[in-house]
Amino acid sequence: MDRLKIEGGYPLNGEITISGAKNAALPLMCAALLAADSLVLKNVPELHDIASLVALLENMGAGVTRTGAQLAIDAASVNSTTAPYDLVRKMRASVLVLGPLLARFGTAKVSLPGGCAIGTRPVDLHIEGLRKMGAEIELKDGYIHARAPQGRLRGAEITFRTKSVGATENLLMAATLAEGRTVLHNAALEPEITDLADCLIAMGAKISGTDTETLEITGVEKLAGATHNVIPDRIETGTYAIAAAMTGGEVVLKGARLDHLEALVPVLEAAGVCLKDDGNGNVTVTRKGNTLNAVDITTAPYPGFPTDLQAQAMAMLTIAEGAGTVKETIFENRFMHVPELARMGADIAVHGSSAVVRGVPRLKGAEVMATDLRASVSLILAALAADGTTIVNRIYHLDRGYEKLEHKLGACGAKLERIAA
Ligand code: EPU
Repeated sequence: MDRLKIEGGYPLNGEITISGAKNAALPLMCAALLAADSLVLKNVPELHDIASLVALLENMGAGVTRTGAQLAIDAASVNSTTAPYDLVRKMRASVLVLGPLLARFGTAKVSLPGGCAIGTRPVDLHIEGLRKMGAEIELKDGYIHARAPQGRLRGAEITFRTKSVGATENLLMAATLAEGRTVLHNAALEPEITDLADCLIAMGAKISGTDTETLEITGVEKLAGATHNVIPDRIETGTYAIAAAMTGGEVVLKGARLDHLEALVPVLEAAGVCLKDDGNGNVTVTRKGNTLNAVDITTAPYPGFPTDLQAQAMAMLTIAEGAGTVKETIFENRFMHVPELARMGADIAVHGSSAVVRGVPRLKGAEVMATDLRASVSLILAALAADGTTIVNRIYHLDRGYEKLEHKLGACGAKLERIAA
């Protein structure tokens, strides 16, 4: 397994181009299943998670062609509506093929994704919603067996018990081809959902209420192909903004959208970070003084503070002045970076879903273990700001979600090297 060796203590200076958002691209790729024409997605990052979904779509018979950052998906030739365990277990967002398959073909057999390192991550909301739309669903042998009687889902009024990004996406896609009107109440508000709705509308879907908690969809007979540009990755943007803040220096994030990071901006400003947006997608990040201040963070569904930036923010607090608290409200096991940060000298006390982080003047390089995507990158951030050398083991997690990370950080003066297994 590859490892990353990082020599800490060098301020980042330079430009980083932000990639297309992984979590927008994945549902958009599943939306291609809704039409028999080609869906062309631009600004698709080259990541393991994207490759896993390409493999799944190809396994179902779709034609997928990548040309640089463009992905053309032709689902005219789909001849299987099964998403097998071996492909789904690699990437849980694969469950997002369920709604589109059921909507277009009236049948689907999709492996249950199972839990992952950060939590149990059930898909009950996806299943309940589809049942309300008339689907007959049986859970058997680790698979979701779903069927739409008479081949077509029916519009329904669905209220989500809790906000779920994936369930909102799955049902939004399913409803576009259902008979009649669907209303999704308490829908999640993440920008990736609006991006999906925009693409579906370009494909001919009738959706109103985008960017609100109530999405109204009037089903159509069929959708057509379209060309769609994936939004920039807000989590990658936030990650590199925190990297710049922790190391000092000046980094320009190109192609970034701060309007998708409304909860992070005030947190960074309170911590002593200056963010200048030129209005053309260039965001310059600098530190106001030599040190950072402690802040308090509570994760919440959008527009709250993203759980996907919690680990990175915690890494920042480990070297801030004073004590800050971090409360995780979305996933039950998302503090796995804590013992690893502690190996580097961080002072963190965990009490249930909250942590108190007391800043130390300097972290020290150590050998650490990556456990999931965002935890891994928090260790990289800590290593960049630490004295000495850090070895991060199991960095395959990073390749799932950060495009060209070594190249992007290296171009800004970071000293890091991948050690092949
Ligand atoms: N939940 C249920 N039942 C469901 C679905 C969700 O109880 O049927 C719970 C989850 O267990 C969790 C909460 O609802 O406690 C929110 O989960 P959500 O469904 O919103 O998450 P997701 O769609 O599985 C997406 C991102 C995650 C991100 C979360 C929260 C994608 C592909 N994944 O997951 O991204 O953390 O939303 O914002 O969009 C990552 O990129 O590292 C990552 C984990």
